[in-house]
Formats: sequence, C-alpha cells, structure tokens
Amino acid sequence: MAEPLKVGLAGLGTVGTSVVRLLEDGRDKLSARCGRAIEVVAITARARGKKRGVDLKKYRWVGDPLALARDPSIDVLVEVIGGAGDPAKAAVEAALAAGKPVVTANKALLARHGQKLAALAERHGVALNFEAAVAGGIPIIKTLREGLNGNAFTRIYGILNGTCNYILSRMEHDRLGFEECLREAQRLGYAEADPSFDVEGHDTAQKLSILASLAFGTKLDPHAIYVEGISSITLADLDAANGLGYRVKLLGVAVKTEAGIEQRVHPTMVPKDSAIAQVMGVTNAVTIDAERVMPITLVGPGAGGLATASAVVSDLADIARGVRGAPFGRPASRMTATRKAPMQHHEGGYYIRLLARDRPGTAATIARRLAQQNISLESIVQRHDAAEKRAASGRSGAPVPVIMITYATSEDAVRRALSAVRRDRVISGRPQVIRIEKN
Ligand code: HSE
Repeated sequence: MAEPLKVGLAGLGTVGTSVVRLLEDGRDKLSARCGRAIEVVAITARARGKKRGVDLKKYRWVGDPLALARDPSIDVLVEVIGGAGDPAKAAVEAALAAGKPVVTANKALLARHGQKLAALAERHGVALNFEAAVAGGIPIIKTLREGLNGNAFTRIYGILNGTCNYILSRMEHDRLGFEECLREAQRLGYAEADPSFDVEGHDTAQKLSILASLAFGTKLDPHAIYVEGISSITLADLDAANGLGYRVKLLGVAVKTEAGIEQRVHPTMVPKDSAIAQVMGVTNAVTIDAERVMPITLVGPGAGGLATASAVVSDLADIARGVRGAPFGRPASRMTATRKAPMQHHEGGYYIRLLARDRPGTAATIARRLAQQNISLESIVQRHDAAEKRAASGRSGAPVPVIMITYATSEDAVRRALSAVRRDRVISGRPQVIRIEKN
C-alpha cells in the first residue's frame, strides 16, 4: 500500500475535532477506498489546553497555523479556523505556495480571496478543495464542479443558511415571532457568533458567490450580490403566503439573465409544492437548473460537526487518490468578471402587503399607481380579521392589510408604484415586498 497521506489540521473547534473523529473511526474504510491511509500527524488551534472531548495527545502540537502550513512533515493542510483574514489566509497561502494541497471549510476566505487562492493553487499544481464551505454535508461543490460538465447552468438557488430556515419554519409551525425563534436558534447553537450575519443574509451571500462562480465561471465578487435578510418577515406574511399557496424561504439565487448574472439573497415566496418548499428546520437544499437535465435538488445538513467533517474527509480522499481539478472548475484565468445584473432590472412576480386606510377610493388609488407602472395583479385580498375589525370599529379609515400578488413585472416598476402610493398617503408604514421564485 502507498504511503499514508499526512494531514496537518489547523482549527480544533466542532468541525476540527469531528474531522479527527471521522479519520480515526473511518481509517480502514478510507484506506480501502483510496488505496492509502489518511492520518492526522500535526495539529494547531488557539488554545492548547482546552477540553475537546477527543484524545489529541497522540498528535504533534505545532505553535501556530503558519508554522503548521510550512511544516515539512505534512502533505496537506486542513484549515477549519474560519475568517477571511489571518491566520487562516496566511496559512492557506503558505501551504499552497509550498506546493501542498489545502482543504478548507472557510466560506468567508473563499468569498473574499477565492480568486487569488485558486490562481495560487494552479500555479503550484495543487488542489484547493472546499466542499465543506457551502451547505455543510451536501456535496454541492463536487456536483457543480464535476458532475454536470455536459451542461450549461441556467439557475442555481438554495436554502444555504440553516439558522434562517429554522427561524422561518418555527415561526410558521409554532406561530411564534421572529425574535423568539432567533433566540431559540442561538440557544441551539445554529446561529453564527454574530446572528445578524445569518439573519441579514450575509452568510448566504458568501456561499452563493462560491456557487455562482462554479456554475457560471464568474470571478468571486461579494459586491455583485444584492442582499436582504429575514428580520422584517412577520407571521402575517407567512400566513398570507400560506393562503396563497406559497411558503417563505431565505434563498440565495444566481441566475443567467440577458443583463448578466443576477445574484441575490432575499426572503422569497416559493410554491408550496416545490421541492425547496418542503425543506424545513435547519436543513439546507440547493436546486440546480441546467440545460440537459430536469431540475436537481440536493437536500441535507448544512452545518454541524460531523456533517461538515464528512465533506472535509471527502475532499481529503480526493487528494489521497491524486484527483485534482481546477478549484472553480475551470482555470482561474478563464473566470470572467461578473457583469452584475442590476437589481432594479429583476423581473418576476411580487407579493406586496400594505396597511391601507379603509376609506372609499383607497383601492382605486393603489390600482391606478400599479396600472401606471404597467403592473398587473394576479390576486388582491383585503384582510379583516376579528381583532382588526374590533380595533377599527367606529374609526373610519383605520388601516387594514391589503395583500397583492403581481404577475411578472420589474423591480423598478414595483418600487416606483409603491413610492407613489406612499406619497398619496393612503397607506401607513412601509410596504412589505417579497419576491416570488417560480420552479
Ligand atoms: N450559521 C450557519 C447556518 C452555519 O446557520 O447555516 C453554517 O455555515
């Protein structure tokens, strides 16, 4: 049997310790599959003495990630430290420059520096694998990079943040408010240290930029993404969506349009009978639309130590077998600058919820403003629930929710129409707008 692949592991958090566990437990299976063993030989982390629930005494401790990357005794660096800057960046660069392949779970690092790192890996003829960086245990990177090469992609969209999907699912299922569900997600350890990173859509955006580059060959560019989070979504929206045959999900969407590659992250209404709408709780899912195949949806765990470590180990197995492709599926020099499709040109259906003054002429005013922008309505409902009726009794003009679904129109038209409606003073508060994504 060939020499074992010697791994240097930087980062011993939930993912790092799970990698140790998987490599120990799966040693024989992996040797049989790869034709050689995969062994951790050296490790590093911020705090040496910390209890981690796994015996690390047999592994050589190295002072810092950079020293580990340069250590001549390792064949490959696994970076599960996280963060777009140092020490993760310096360690990955040092390993690649020393001609050592790298496996990383670091979405922030790839979203910010993926282009340069891919070029560096190519220059030194080594692999840069990152299956764990997007959707945890779902093999979406391999699927996009290798599994569909006979296809042109037209659209990739997915639930890429478990925290947001958990919050929206709990709100709908248990009829709870956003804040309460967020606190629960934090208690369960789903959310990032700064939960605004999850709920405002930035975590999804980093993952989307990686998927978009793999699918469309665009340079990684976090600024090319329109980002909107879920903190303004209310139970009223989820109920209205349900009544209209939709469910609300935070989606990352990358789609080829005539104006360029549109990349966007926002709360989205998806038809209740679509594959993505069935995905509840902390689970992730990605749907791929490609030319020669029916839409493919991969569903699975997007986070968690063992699921993420499973992706890391799979990347290591490729390296052990000598498999090496361009990190983003094509030479870095052939990746093109993203022609950002401006969001105001986005076309699709819209859900609009307004709090309208209950007075004669209000509906006519709203309808006129929509018509002026050539917006056609698929449905319009004025909701008067019992509590609202009581509150409104005797008060002519008290606001009532008006919910509209438009046929396909442009973002620009919706924004203009709603600005005009606000100027007309027939609504109170800000209109709620949710884009609709058809299957
Ligand atoms: N906070 C992330 C999530 C973890 O909720 O999906 C995985 O990136």
